[in-house]
Amino acid sequence: MIALFYELPIIYLFIGSNCIILYFVNWQREISIAEIDGKKVVVKRNKMSKNLHDYLIVMSYAILSILLAHPSTPPELGNKTTSNEGFEMREKLRSMGITTPSLISISDNVLIEEFVPGGNLLEVLSNGSTFSLAFAAGIITGRLHKSGYSFTDNKSQNFLVGSTSKVLRTDLAFIKKNDSVFAKSMDIGSFLGSLLCLDVGKYKVIENAFYEGYYSETKTPIPYLSIPLRNILGFGLSLSSNWIVNVFQDSVKLISNRWKFGFSVKSP
Ligand SMILES: Nc1ncnc2c1ncn2[C@@H]1O[C@H](COP(=O)(O)OP(=O)(O)O)[C@@H](O)[C@H]1O
Ligand SMILES: [Mg+2]
Repeated sequence: MIALFYELPIIYLFIGSNCIILYFVNWQREISIAEIDGKKVVVKRNKMSKNLHDYLIVMSYAILSILLAHPSTPPELGNKTTSNEGFEMREKLRSMGITTPSLISISDNVLIEEFVPGGNLLEVLSNGSTFSLAFAAGIITGRLHKSGYSFTDNKSQNFLVGSTSKVLRTDLAFIKKNDSVFAKSMDIGSFLGSLLCLDVGKYKVIENAFYEGYYSETKTPIPYLSIPLRNILGFGLSLSSNWIVNVFQDSVKLISNRWKFGFSVKSP
């Protein structure tokens, strides 16, 4: 139920076994494309419902951490979400090797950043799987974790594909200095959960690529907690017939991944 609230505003049209985004109702911000000095930019304007949406994310985080026996402090709301999107945080991410769209301006209600032409990762992966893009998302997530931070809201729609197929990270509002098993598992779980609507074969390739990218950076086991979180969050993020298949026909692959990536079953 909590997971369902997590991203309720995305409305999907399911055709056969594929999920196609019919209409993206973005609760947090109104997204538009404009031109400044001849350059395309994206304007993100907060909606009235943004506070409610942020509150639901934070509440879901806290409640899930308690239900899964890893009580964790959720990310901060208010000014912190704005400062996380600012120049300083982007510079910090750049120093970690994580690219974000260039920020043009930011205020409490409006953010303007460089337009990234390739679309978000969910769209790109839905239209044709590429191992390297999911691998890159794993690298980005691993780099952040290695530096002691987590994204919290790490769904694939928050990754953008640039013109040279470079993967960038946007929507930085909930970044938090937190390297707990729960925080890392939320990032891995929300990324994979947002892709459970893809067909099983494609999902598996992407999952594997993400794990490999992540492992190549962190050299640490992938927390087992990310699997139940993926399944719960995926229920809200990408509910479809494929969610059921991906969740329940997973056991053989899970065992082989445990060997390969050394899934950790205990907290540090
Ligand atoms: N810089 C950008 N260039 C191109 N598309 C973008 C850019 N930023 C966001 N988008 C598109 O808008 C969607 C929502 O943006 P996001 O920053 O995640 O807003 P929200 O806070 O509402 O989730 C993304 O999933 C992506 O499809
Ligand atoms: Mg977003």
